[in-house]
Amino acid sequence: MILPIVLYGDPVLQRRAEEVPPNFPDLDALIQNMFDTMYTASGIGLAAPQIGQSWRLFVLDAELADEVVYKGQKRVFINPLILEESGDLWPYAEGCLSVPEIRGDVMRRATIRLRYEDAQRVVHEETLDGMLARIIQHEYDHIEGRLFIDLLNPLRRRLVQKKLQLIRNGKLRPEYKHRPR
Ligand code: CO
Repeated sequence: MILPIVLYGDPVLQRRAEEVPPNFPDLDALIQNMFDTMYTASGIGLAAPQIGQSWRLFVLDAELADEVVYKGQKRVFINPLILEESGDLWPYAEGCLSVPEIRGDVMRRATIRLRYEDAQRVVHEETLDGMLARIIQHEYDHIEGRLFIDLLNPLRRRLVQKKLQLIRNGKLRPEYKHRPR
């Protein structure tokens, strides 16, 4: 089922999301709906707050970012915790389904150490880097109530203010299904 995506200006995007409790009802259906919603909107990652559900859960498909390096990297992360970030900061022009038509360079560390539960609720610890780490850092920010636009340099931030106002006021709308502003 394709769910409406919440856009910039909705307070759920600024809220720190709650841990997903054990025996969370219909978790498989929620995850499937999140993948359906993400693929239909041509996104490479989607966090639960972006569909208006304030849970510490996100999905991604890194193969859509690099089909050679990340073949089969369709992943689910439940109650993730970034244990450590290391390596050099590197820039990349990020975008977000909740912030349509805006992109901007975000500096992030190259490598992360992550603890998380998979879709079967099995706990893992893993070291990730490159674009896969970046997508996780971006989605992790969502469950912490942060957006990539909060991480732009001050000049870039000023330049996107007008567009942000349009999104907030419901005057800039994406083509994919979204919750009206
Ligand atoms: Co996003």
